[in-house]
Amino acid sequence: MSITYQIAVLPGDGIGPDVIHQACLTLEAVGNASGFSFEWVEGAVGGASIDQYGTPLTDEVLYKCQGARAVLLGAVGGDAWDHLTGDQRPESGLLKLRKSLRAFVNLRPVLVPDSLAEASPLRADAVRGTDLLVVRELTGGIYFGQPSGREGSGSDERAYNTMVYTADEVDRVSRVAFQWARKRRGRVTSVDKANVLVVSQLWRDVVSRVHESDYPDLTLNHMYVDNAAMQLVLNPRQFDVIVTGNLFGDILSDAAATLGGSLGLLPSASVGGEVGLFEPVHGSAPDIAGKDIANPIAAILSASMMLDEFGEDQSAQAIRTGVEKALEEGARTADLWREGLRRVSTSEMGDLIRHHATAALSAYKK
Ligand code: NAD
Ligand code: IPM
Ligand code: MN
Repeated sequence: MSITYQIAVLPGDGIGPDVIHQACLTLEAVGNASGFSFEWVEGAVGGASIDQYGTPLTDEVLYKCQGARAVLLGAVGGDAWDHLTGDQRPESGLLKLRKSLRAFVNLRPVLVPDSLAEASPLRADAVRGTDLLVVRELTGGIYFGQPSGREGSGSDERAYNTMVYTADEVDRVSRVAFQWARKRRGRVTSVDKANVLVVSQLWRDVVSRVHESDYPDLTLNHMYVDNAAMQLVLNPRQFDVIVTGNLFGDILSDAAATLGGSLGLLPSASVGGEVGLFEPVHGSAPDIAGKDIANPIAAILSASMMLDEFGEDQSAQAIRTGVEKALEEGARTADLWREGLRRVSTSEMGDLIRHHATAALSAYKK
């Protein structure tokens, strides 16, 4: 009997639906070629959910996600909902989903294949061969810390958030980082602001403790976040696994996206709970929404991370091969296009990736 994976699909806003459509078609294509299939359960999130139900994530959609094998999400947010505050905002729907799924780790791999090094806004020789993994804590830190609020008025008006971590939260995310490093090149860089923030001093102590007690064979170094932002663009190849808190991880991963030349390339997996959430790193890109020019690679690679988690190794690898080949033959969406390369739409890029991914799968079978 062949397996059917039940996937909750939450396309969201802006370019979300376009890129998620390509990701689903790609999953279908490799599934057909490998003998497994999908049942899609669609749901609204973010602005799309606000417009339909008056809230960025309904309980009904949350239950669908909790009952699925995995969740595939596009992006949330946009100008139409920017006047909203607090838990009325599209973004709070995504935060609630991550928290409810207990997805405390967000894995954000950053790879710069040769085909992209030339087009990087940074020097090709500085970025070529970059292969790093940002392990971002996802359900704690300043995103969720209490108290937070805004009160008073006039010149007395004040607003505050709390950056808080418990030792347990740091312990569990650092273990995930060390485990990934063990499968990779054995090196973890923990990023914090321990020269100023007491919450970072705890972070640093706990990561060091976990390292000494359970992963002494691996290399650990600590880096302040301001320096890490600079080192990422100066010498990205020094990094293997970067482990950091929610806010720093959000910022550093967008910075790392410049290495390959576009945020439209970066996938992610939000895991740690029973149901994984697979989501591109980028947002709803209101500036290019509705034009069929968004880069679907981040969403398609997020789908391949989902297949990794299912143990469908060959299909996951075939998708990565499909992406590599499409880029190698010069296909580029608008974000990466330059003279001499072939400019393709969102759907054309998806078609090319599927073509090469299914070809790779039939080659494995021979
Ligand atoms: P963004 O990631 O949407 O866009 C930043 C820049 O990158 C834009 O110029 C955009 O055109 C470009 N870009 C992003 N994805 C691309 C793709 N796939 N192909 C080509 N170009 C791409 O960030 P922003 O503009 O700061 O935020 C827009 C909205 O998205 C906001 O409402 C924000 O809150 C939301 N957001 C959501 C998520 C998410 O859902 N995970 C992530 C980030 C931002
Ligand atoms: C991301 C986004 C989200 C975050 C927002 C939209 C809540 O920027 O996934 O990187 O800050 O985590
Ligand atoms: Mn972000």
